[in-house]
Amino acid sequence: MSFKHIHAVVTGAASGIGRAAARALADQGASVIGLDLSPTVDADVPIVQLDLSEESQIVAAVAQAADRLENRITLLINAAGIEIDAPLTRIEADSIDRMYRTNVRGTILTAREALRYMPNDGVDQARIINVASELAYLGREGASAYTATKGAILSLTRSWARELSPRILVNAVAPGPIDTPLLNYASMNDAQKAVERRNPMGRIGRPEEVAAVIAFLASAGASFITGQCYSADGGAGMH
Ligand code: NAI
Repeated sequence: MSFKHIHAVVTGAASGIGRAAARALADQGASVIGLDLSPTVDADVPIVQLDLSEESQIVAAVAQAADRLENRITLLINAAGIEIDAPLTRIEADSIDRMYRTNVRGTILTAREALRYMPNDGVDQARIINVASELAYLGREGASAYTATKGAILSLTRSWARELSPRILVNAVAPGPIDTPLLNYASMNDAQKAVERRNPMGRIGRPEEVAAVIAFLASAGASFITGQCYSADGGAGMH
């Protein structure tokens, strides 16, 4: 697979799944700019720093990223996200707002801004790939507000696929538990680890195993796929 023609913007590119996806694209020749709160970690994935919960920062950062990509974005990967867990009896409004501002509102506004730079010549096609979660399907006790933000990602994916086709193909990936700072598997007790490994493969995944699915959805071979969500979850959810 050669991605030399791809001009990609990847949110959350400083860590975990976003970083692995940005790396996979860059390794195959894509020009990649990351958007993240944190600064650049990989030399070939320069990061424009922003807070995705702030609209004005998204507008400015996407414009800056596009400028570095010859004003042409052919792939947007929305991987940035946060998770703040609490049982329903103890959910705080501020946590709900923070997750929705980053995971949902930030994703919508980033896509809106990136659209300005996506090809509209009737020839070239662009792609948007959103990172949802297997928990959007399965639900998770103690994490309902977070899982709701991921359900929203599935809805956005389907609506955008209808709204933007055939100019832009829009798909999602639904990772199971993946070994990243967000999951923080190493800090869990044995019972919590057992919950995370509760899938047919009996293990958690690596960021590269999600990045490979994202790379497929970005590739020429995925030219007749839109509005779908591909799971990389060890078989935890079978849809
Ligand atoms: P991570 O914590 O390793 O990386 C998330 C990145 O997003 C970080 O670099 C962080 O700085 C950035 N970010 C967070 N809030 C931001 C903001 N307001 N503005 C700009 N950047 C911001 O997390 P991970 O695991 O790589 O998660 C990536 C996506 O995958 C998230 O959307 C998460 O919900 C999803 N996911 C993760 C799973 C896991 O087990 N790790 C499972 C299912 C879904």
